[in-house]
Amino acid sequence: MKTIFVVDDSDTNLSMVETALEDQYNVITIPSAQKMFLFLKKLTPDLILLDIEMPEMNGIEALQKLKSSEEYRNIPVIFLTGRKDIDIEVSGFRIGAVDFITKPFSEVILKNRVKTRLGIDQIIRERTAQLYKLKDGVISVLAEIVEYRDISVKGHVDRTTEYMKILINAMKERGVYADELQKWDIDTIVSSARLHDIGKIVVSDEILNKNARLNSDEYEIVKCHALEGERIIGKIAERTKEEEFLNNAKIFAGCHHERWDGTGYLRGLKGTEIPLQGRIMAIIDVYDALVSKRPHRNAYTDEEAVEIIMQKIGKKYDPKIAEVFYEVKDHFKAVRKNAS
Ligand SMILES: [Fe+2]
Repeated sequence: MKTIFVVDDSDTNLSMVETALEDQYNVITIPSAQKMFLFLKKLTPDLILLDIEMPEMNGIEALQKLKSSEEYRNIPVIFLTGRKDIDIEVSGFRIGAVDFITKPFSEVILKNRVKTRLGIDQIIRERTAQLYKLKDGVISVLAEIVEYRDISVKGHVDRTTEYMKILINAMKERGVYADELQKWDIDTIVSSARLHDIGKIVVSDEILNKNARLNSDEYEIVKCHALEGERIIGKIAERTKEEEFLNNAKIFAGCHHERWDGTGYLRGLKGTEIPLQGRIMAIIDVYDALVSKRPHRNAYTDEEAVEIIMQKIGKKYDPKIAEVFYEVKDHFKAVRKNAS
């Protein structure tokens, strides 16, 4: 049963709304906006019916407070207003109310407005979930296209996704780069990292699957995958206007071969000039490469791979992140073992 908060300083109004809606919804009546915020700490409603004229905190102020909160801003709010006032309605819509119901209201109008609103929200939620699924599917297939062609990296994308979750969570727990991590939506970051090698799509099969070490010309061609990755993701962004996910994907693609001492590519960025995404991916990417068999060499053991990475702290890798990596190396090993 869907939950509706009704917030009004008039007991008569509260009981009228409750009577009208209680057979279909879980109605919670609340006598003031301040109390509504206390209830919100315990329960998130599907809809709030909010009176405008209330002492202390009025409905407009309460809505502004809701909209400024990450947690509550998506809860739909319908205003209950005592008189038809166009100016109030306009400003209410501007700050994010979804509808107005004028008091005294008819039970039929109230029931229908509430039903319509909740129906719309349900459709939006279902569509959004479908779009997310579609997006994840398309990303996975795009990333796998590279894996189909480059047989030596089979499973690389899935493993790096797991490594990334481990490393980012461990960094969070230890407060490493806490300010930056706090701003990240971890699911978006982890998912966008899956496209880091998408630019390899332009590298020929011959080079990708060469059964020997690459010569310097071939290596130069492989290096282009960072720029190509940025370009491909940039094109998707131009067409879709999506920002958060694709911006991150672009950063991963363009920066995962940068090195802490400035000797990497694409741009030779140094230290914290390299975006955090790139500094994290650099360690994960190389760990997975080292523990994987390549056409020209055998796989290193997990211990050897860790050793090789630790020798390059401060040269190739960010010392703070590498330290966390060292602490969770057994979890990396477990992922690798499960995958093989
Ligand atoms: Fe790469």
